[in-house]
Amino acid sequence: MIKVAFFDTKAYDRPSFEQYGNNNKIEYKFLETKLSEDTAELAKGCDAVCVFVNDTVNAAVIDKLHEYGIKMIALRCAGYNNVDVRHAFGKIHVAHVPAYSPYAVAEHAAALLLTSVRRIHKAYNRTRDFNFSLNGLTGFDLHGKTAGIIGTGKIGRIFIDICRGFGMNVIAYDAYPAKDSGIEYVSLDELFEKSDIISLHCPLTDDTRHMINTDSIGKMKKGVVILNTSRGALIDAEALLEGIKSRKVGAACLDVYEEEADIFFEDRSGHILNDELLARLISMPNVIVTSHQAFLTEEALHNIAETTVNNIRSCFENDGICDNELCYRCGHIEKCKQERKQRCF
Ligand code: NAI
Repeated sequence: MIKVAFFDTKAYDRPSFEQYGNNNKIEYKFLETKLSEDTAELAKGCDAVCVFVNDTVNAAVIDKLHEYGIKMIALRCAGYNNVDVRHAFGKIHVAHVPAYSPYAVAEHAAALLLTSVRRIHKAYNRTRDFNFSLNGLTGFDLHGKTAGIIGTGKIGRIFIDICRGFGMNVIAYDAYPAKDSGIEYVSLDELFEKSDIISLHCPLTDDTRHMINTDSIGKMKKGVVILNTSRGALIDAEALLEGIKSRKVGAACLDVYEEEADIFFEDRSGHILNDELLARLISMPNVIVTSHQAFLTEEALHNIAETTVNNIRSCFENDGICDNELCYRCGHIEKCKQERKQRCF
């Protein structure tokens, strides 16, 4: 039996993981708390930890887990910016779920976009109050507008197809443009200057942190709609708020937020929200916030559980040869991934 300390458990996690775990000889220790330096001790006696986007897996946590004999960190998500993968190398195997339903995230981005530009969030509240006035609900056609997509990986490309379905012109920026993809790549500055809608689908790295800032917002079209379903820290939220207050930014749809860790995924109603920046953003009529919900479909939950369990089993049953491992053996994560099928350390 492989014992897994499952941090930050939510009600929607358990059914799919229990289904796969029970069939696959995995015993879970479901914990509601997030993984941090203070809670790492709860993993004592386990073989692996399973973590999500807002668990802290920094060097100090990794050292503690290593000391407790943890052999694997199984991320049940795609992004791994919260894990010090370099520090884990040689100590603990780290694996993620590279794709579980890119459609879920791209479709959520589309839902946010349509909600925002057609004021559906306003109309929904009005008609529930038998207010059938249309004043203030004027939207705009997506057809013929320019969508600028930053990051043309799995999710970005599906979102590009959705945008094309609406008859939008699509331009894109990617640090590693896909060859022969039929995507029109432009520089980041050109994308900022030409786009009516900007959607972020790149990972959070040192290069991309706060890529949407005062300077980049200054280059954008007046009335630009900014969508972020990727990672909160891609946007400098204070700069975004200023952009909204100055009417430069026409609307913002945020499924992620830089300081989301202690707020998102929790019921905070009835509490005073301490994050004034988030409270101010939410108070804006042209800002829509969802709490890191883009992944949350039946299909995605099923795929997340299946892949995570397979990652854990492959690590423990194949002497550390771990599917979907993230490591620095080759000095570059992508290169290492291509050379898989052998033990990373
Ligand atoms: P992916 O790895 O398939 O694509 C990422 C793309 O970003 C790649 O084409 C890569 O070349 C590009 N990229 C890397 N560095 C860049 C840079 N400096 N500038 C511009 N582009 C750069 O990843 P996928 O599956 O499409 O996911 C994208 C992001 O979506 C993830 O990093 C994750 O943070 C986020 N995500 C959010 C979810 C949610 O529930 N809100 C769920 C799943 C993923």
